[in-house]
Amino acid sequence: MPQAAFPAIRHRRLRASRALRNLVREHELSVNDLIWPIFVRDGTGIEEPISSMPGVYRRSVDKIVEAAREAASLGIPAICLFPYTDASLKTETCEEAWNPDNLSNRAIRAIRDAGLDIAIMTDVALDPYNSNGHDGIVRDGVIVNDDTVEALVKMALAQAAAGADIIGPSDMMDGRIGAIRTALEAEGHQNVTIMSYAAKFASAYYGPFRDAVGASGALKGDKLTYQIDPANRRAALACVERDLMEGADMVMVKPGLPYLDMVREVKDRFGAPTYAYQVSGEYAMIAAAAANGWVDGDKVMVESMMSFRRAGCDGVLTYFAPRLAQILNG
Ligand code: PBG
Repeated sequence: MPQAAFPAIRHRRLRASRALRNLVREHELSVNDLIWPIFVRDGTGIEEPISSMPGVYRRSVDKIVEAAREAASLGIPAICLFPYTDASLKTETCEEAWNPDNLSNRAIRAIRDAGLDIAIMTDVALDPYNSNGHDGIVRDGVIVNDDTVEALVKMALAQAAAGADIIGPSDMMDGRIGAIRTALEAEGHQNVTIMSYAAKFASAYYGPFRDAVGASGALKGDKLTYQIDPANRRAALACVERDLMEGADMVMVKPGLPYLDMVREVKDRFGAPTYAYQVSGEYAMIAAAAANGWVDGDKVMVESMMSFRRAGCDGVLTYFAPRLAQILNG
C-alpha cells in the first residue's frame, strides 16, 4: 500500500473552532451534580477557618442556615453535614451520636425550618462522638461490628426524625445498610434515602477532614480493619453489590480522583446512582497549589469535575461546590 501523503485521520478537524468543539462535546457539567459537605460547630455567628482546608469553615448553626440558603440560591441540590463535636461530648459509648438534639440534628432542623429547597445529607459514623476517634465502638482494642450497627441505626433514626433526606453511612461496618433500611421502614421513614459510602478506602487523603471534625487528635491507630485496602478492587465491588442488595439507593466511591477506575467499574456494573467524594486531602492539594499560584485553581477544579463525569459519576461531594456553582452559573 502506498503511504498517504497526509494523515489519514484528522481528529483535529473537530477541534478547530469553539463551535465545533462544543458540538462534539461528550459530557456537560451541571450544578445539579454537586453535593456540598459543610462542617457544623456550636455557638452563634461563628465561621471558623480550618487551617488544613483553606477556604473551608466550621460554622455555627445560624451560619449553616445562611450557607444552606446560599447553596440553594446557587442551585446546589444537596448539602452534607459533618459535626465538629466538643471533646467533652466524646465518650467510649458514643451516645451523643443519637441524641435528638445533637449539633447535627439541630442543624438539620434549623435548615428544615428555613424552608429551603435543598436536600440534607448526613454522616452516619461514630467518629465525631468517639473518645478514641474510631467510626465504631471499641472494646478491648477491637472495633465491634454488630454493637456498632445498633448504635448506627439509632443515629440514623434520629437524623431521619430531624428531617434528613439522605442518610450517609460512612462507617464501613458490615450489615449497617440493611439494618438502617429496616429501621427506617419500621419507623415510618419510607422515603428517606440512603447513600452508602460503599467503596470507601482506607486513605491518607482524609487527613484534613479529621482535623476539621476534631477527630485526628483522638484517633488511636488506623481504620484498616474496616475501610477497604486501596489495593483491592474486587473487594470494593463486592461491598457495593452488598450495599445495593441491602437497600442502598445510591452508592459512593471515596476518595475521588485517585479512585476513578472504581467509579467507572461501579457505574458500568451496577448502573445505580453513583457518586464520588472529592475528599479533604484532594481539596487541600488543589487549594494549596492554587494559593501558591502553581495551578489555576478554578480551571483545575472544573477539570476535576469533568473527570468525575467522564468516569461515570452522577454527582460529586466536593468542598469546591459553591465556587463551582458560581462558575457553572456563569
Ligand atoms: C468519617 C468520615 C471521614 C470522611 C467522611 N466521613 C473520615 C474517615 O473515614 O476517617 C472523610 C471526608 C474527607 O476527607 O473529606 N467516617
